[in-house]
Formats: sequence, structure tokens, C-alpha cells
Amino acid sequence: MEKPLTQYINPNRPALHLKEYERVGGYSALRKALTMAPKDITNMVQEADLKGRGGAGFNTGMKWSFVPMDPDIGTKYLIANADEMEPGTFKDRLLMEGNPHQLIEGMIIAAYAIQANVSFIFLRWAYKKAARLLEQAIAEAYDAGYLGRPMGSTGYQLHLHLHTGVGRYICGEETALLNALEGKRATPRLKPPFPQISGLFGRPTIVNNVETLCNVPHIVNNGPDWFKALSNSGDAGTKLYGVSGRVKTPGIWELPLGTPMDQLLEDHAGGMQDGYRFRGALPGGASTDFLVTEHLKINLDYKSVASAGSRLGTGTMVVLDDRTCPVGFVHNLEHFFAQESCGWCSPCREGLPWTEKILRSIEDGRGTIQDLEILEQHTIQLGPGRTFCALAPGAMEPLQSALKYFREDFESHISQKKCPWR
Ligand code: NAI
Repeated sequence: MEKPLTQYINPNRPALHLKEYERVGGYSALRKALTMAPKDITNMVQEADLKGRGGAGFNTGMKWSFVPMDPDIGTKYLIANADEMEPGTFKDRLLMEGNPHQLIEGMIIAAYAIQANVSFIFLRWAYKKAARLLEQAIAEAYDAGYLGRPMGSTGYQLHLHLHTGVGRYICGEETALLNALEGKRATPRLKPPFPQISGLFGRPTIVNNVETLCNVPHIVNNGPDWFKALSNSGDAGTKLYGVSGRVKTPGIWELPLGTPMDQLLEDHAGGMQDGYRFRGALPGGASTDFLVTEHLKINLDYKSVASAGSRLGTGTMVVLDDRTCPVGFVHNLEHFFAQESCGWCSPCREGLPWTEKILRSIEDGRGTIQDLEILEQHTIQLGPGRTFCALAPGAMEPLQSALKYFREDFESHISQKKCPWR
């Protein structure tokens, strides 16, 4: 299989500089894009069925098509969401550290398609190496005339700014990101209006994930049919899948979308470490429902994972083994989510710390059987449609599925008045 995104990503070699990137065909897609009408690029990406790789899986070309294209509309923005803070997720970091120009090229093409002249990379504060490499790559792109100057016969030009966040999970939510970029408190905004109509400083704005944007030059160069043929399923393209936990070789691999879960775990992650058994996995970062042994044969595409009761999310799997307490595992996640609640809406602000407190008391052997009912209630009260944004519903996904699949472990903590794993 051709590997459109990761062929130059190798942790043992330095990031690709401009000249090397150009030598292997870099910026040829941009040159091609500039000969096309902006709306034809949007149509091409929509036809390729590139789904957003940040977690939600919304059709990228369709999202771009919502941006008003009236020539008198004024300022528009394109933003790369590089605030990768989903637990267990580090795919965008590898893309930025391995091949920063691929992201920049994808951004210029995306910005051209929506006719935005200003763009930002909103980068997670902890990604210091990526920040350094992106700064260098942006400077190279300015020097080479890919940024900051009119290009070709179109006269189109783009400015690109690197903005580092301060390390809050909520800044990955696109509208909280916009507030943060405006220098305001990073709370989510009501949607609609969606950012495509009213985003940064009230202007039409597209926010796309890094992996999503890195696919764009390859789609422009090779076309929608090529992109669709890369996958194993109804979803197009490849995906950066990850596995962490007690497997032999944790890591990130670019594979056809729809790769079976057991293949990812066995052939790529090397299977479980000696002495450990697989009990379950969160398929797409922490804010997804557990999949368990009965799901090992499913294809990791958006629809199949949803049919199994979870979400593909970021595609980066966190594995739970039989020597790790599931209650402690979920408690650890809820501690993170409670800490990262922005405090804007009451169910999330109050409900997540309360959830964490109950899980802690169960883990410490102070829980009661009524606590399980209260936790079940929380998964509803903090679930979809009950909170201002997706943070709390996402936090409820590992909890609700742990209560379903590992209920006997919760009960044994309560009956034995201690954690059986300690
Ligand atoms: P969402 O489904 O509300 O929106 C996804 C994208 O589609 C957004 O850009 C939104 O503007 C657009 N969109 C959705 N419906 C639309 C409509 N009717 N009209 C126009 N545009 C529309 O999901 P959201 O809240 O943006 O993201 C949640 C996801 O983020 C979760 O699936 C989670 O897995 C993921 N996530 C990823 C993290 C990471 O580090 N990569 C961190 C936290 C969450």
C-alpha cells in the first residue's frame, strides 16, 4: 500500500526540510491546486470523502463548502487544530515532527479552496519539538514564496501564524479554540452558528485537524478515486492508528481505514506483553466506549466501530489488560476530565468532579451498591444533549461502557471493601 502521510516519518531521522520535501514532490499539489478553481478543490475533497481525523469524522469538503464564497465577504480564516490533548493520542505530533511542510502545504491548499488569506496553527503547548520544527518550516515557506507573497497567476497569498496554547484540553474544541485565539476565556460557543459562517473574530473560519489537512495534498495530486481505493472499508483513505497500553510494541501506524482491530493489535502492536491478557480497549482516545474481546474482529472504520457501540474517535487505542484495575483505570480518566472541565456549564462543572469522587471511593473500598446507580445516572445527566459541548458526554463514554462490561469488578470492590488489584 502506498503511504500518503507517513512515508517520511521516522523517529530516527530529522524532520524533512523544504528542499528534501520538494525533492520528493512536495508543493507540487499546491502548484496544481493553484491552476484549479477554489470550488473544484472543495468538490474534489468532498468527493474523496475525507472525514475529519480529529475525532468527529465530519466530511471535510462538505465543511469547506459551507464557507461563503462571495468575493466581497472580506477576511476569512483557516486554522489547523494541533491542540492534540486526547489521552493516548499522539498521531498529529508525529506528523508535525516528521514532515511539517506536508501540513503547511495542506493548509495553503485548504485556505485557497475557501479563499482565506490568514491562517493559524493552534499547537498544544507541550509539543515543544513540533513548535521548533514548525517555526523553521514556516520560515522556509515564507522565504520560498509559498507564504506571504502572491503566487502564480492567481495572485493568491496566505499568511500563517503559529500559536501555542497553554495546555487545556477544552482548547481542542473548535469554538473554545477560537475564543482562546481571540485572547478570551477558552469556553465553547453555542453552535449554530458554526465557525464556517461565524468563527474567529466573527469571520468565516474553517478549523481542521492536522491529520485531515495532511491528506489534502495527496488527494489533489492523485484524485478522489485513488484516495477511496486506499481503504479497506466504506470510508476512504488511510488512518493513523495507534496503540498504547501493555502491548509488546506500542506505536502509531498508517494503515488502510477499516483495518481489523485484531490485526492492529497483533500484527502491528505485537500482541499483549507476556503475562498480560487483553480485557478491552478504548478505540479512539479516552473519550470513547470500551470495545472488548467479542469486538476483536471488527473493522476500525467509523460505521463498524459505531455499530459495536463505540466511536473511531482519533483512532488511537488505549488497551486495558487483566492486571490493571478497570475501576482505577476509569477513575484516572475521570480525574483528567474533571480537571479539564472549563466550568462553563453546571452539569459538566459539578458532575465530573462528583463522578470522580464516587469512583475514588469505590476504588478505595468505601463504595456502596447505590453508588453504581448514581454513576449510571451521571452517564445520562452528563450525556449527549445535556451539556454545552462534547467534553462531558465524551467523558461518560468509558464510564458507561466500563459499567456494562466490567460491572463485576465494580461490585467486587464494593463487596470486598478494597481494590482486588492492590
Ligand atoms: P462535531 O461533530 O460537533 O463537529 C465536527 C466538525 O463538523 C466541526 O468542525 C463542526 O463545525 C462541523 N459540523 C458538525 N455539524 C455541522 C453542521 N450541522 N453544519 C456545519 N458544520 C458542522 O464534533 P466536535 O465537538 O467538534 O468534536 C468532538 C470530537 O472531538 C469527538 O469525536 C472526540 O473524539 C474528538 N476529540 C479529539 C481530541 C484530540 O485531541 N484530537 C480531543 C478531544 C476530543
